[in-house]
Amino acid sequence: MTQIRAAITAVNGWLPDYVLTNEELSTMVDTNDEWITTRTGIKERRILKEKGKATSDMAAEAVKGLLLKTGTKAEDIEVIIVSTITPDMTFPNTASLVCLKAGLTNAWGFDLNAACSGFIFGLETATQFITSGKYKKVILVGADMMSTIVDYTDRTTCVLFGDGAGAIMLEPTNDELGVMDTELKVNGIGAQYLNLKAGGSLRPASHETIDNKEHCLYQDGQNVFKFAVKSMADAAEAIMKRNNLTGEDIAWLVPHQANKRIIDATAHRAGLTDEKVMLNIQKYGNTTAATIPLCLWDWEKKLKKGDNLILAAFGGGFTWGSIYLKWAYDPK
Ligand code: ACO
Repeated sequence: MTQIRAAITAVNGWLPDYVLTNEELSTMVDTNDEWITTRTGIKERRILKEKGKATSDMAAEAVKGLLLKTGTKAEDIEVIIVSTITPDMTFPNTASLVCLKAGLTNAWGFDLNAACSGFIFGLETATQFITSGKYKKVILVGADMMSTIVDYTDRTTCVLFGDGAGAIMLEPTNDELGVMDTELKVNGIGAQYLNLKAGGSLRPASHETIDNKEHCLYQDGQNVFKFAVKSMADAAEAIMKRNNLTGEDIAWLVPHQANKRIIDATAHRAGLTDEKVMLNIQKYGNTTAATIPLCLWDWEKKLKKGDNLILAAFGGGFTWGSIYLKWAYDPK
């Protein structure tokens, strides 16, 4: 029997209009463009300012554009996965709100929480639905409204994050295209270094949690950096070795965009020169689950059928990993 593979057949992104620059941030906290640029590579990020709008609105816009672009009827989508750590509410899940807003009347779906690894964890999950043979059209969205969980008085975190959403369509193929191999990990060690403490079952919301700013993201940057730089590079190296790939064979590294120094280290270990690395952190900052699909969207016109791509990510949990895929279509 021919093997079914899951191919990405389209990609779309959505970003809010408001641009929060390093200059504006330096009027809010004690920071400056030089520090942010040299330590992270970030110049600006997008922020969703419109009252009453949330992660599901960004995700729904990305999905509507994807349907339009591919000429797909909304009712033909069977499954939708929304990777996010900033759901509109604890429940209902964001996926159900996206179905309502984008008119997906025949789909089922769910949210997936793996922080900055959300997109690659979602891609592995969506791939299983396609390769099982049961589903023909699955949408994966990575969407985060990080501005809602960032403390804009904390200079160590507020300069890093932005808002955005990216969506892909996954469909079956019998060709040697699509997701070829995956290497994913989660360990729990990261809970002490990267978290949002309150609002869950451990520390339900109270006056105390609000006074302590425990509904905002906390990060011990240095410790996260140490784990991230090693784990992301290890995962990319492992998947390349297993598939007998060298830097020469890879068309593009598609790294999670948290810090340019982490990306550079991963590229170096994979034997890849800068020209083969997708980098848009300077424009959008860290949009958590949205960084990888936003890269694919920005680079879509340069991607060719058969190109070998290595996706790599690292995030809260810790969660991390790498995915090897063969791009399935030429620029349209
Ligand atoms: N502006 C100016 N100075 C600053 C700022 C700022 N915005 N932020 C921190 N500093 C200061 C610190 O206070 C410190 O000062 P001190 O030496 O007087 O104490 C100095 O700069 C150095 O601080 P470090 O934290 O050591 O800076 P570092 O080089 O580690 O960079 C950063 C910080 C960018 C956060 C880095 O540690 C990093 O990228 N960590 C990993 C991020 C990551 O990958 N996260 C995972 C994904 S996120 C998710 O899953 C939700």
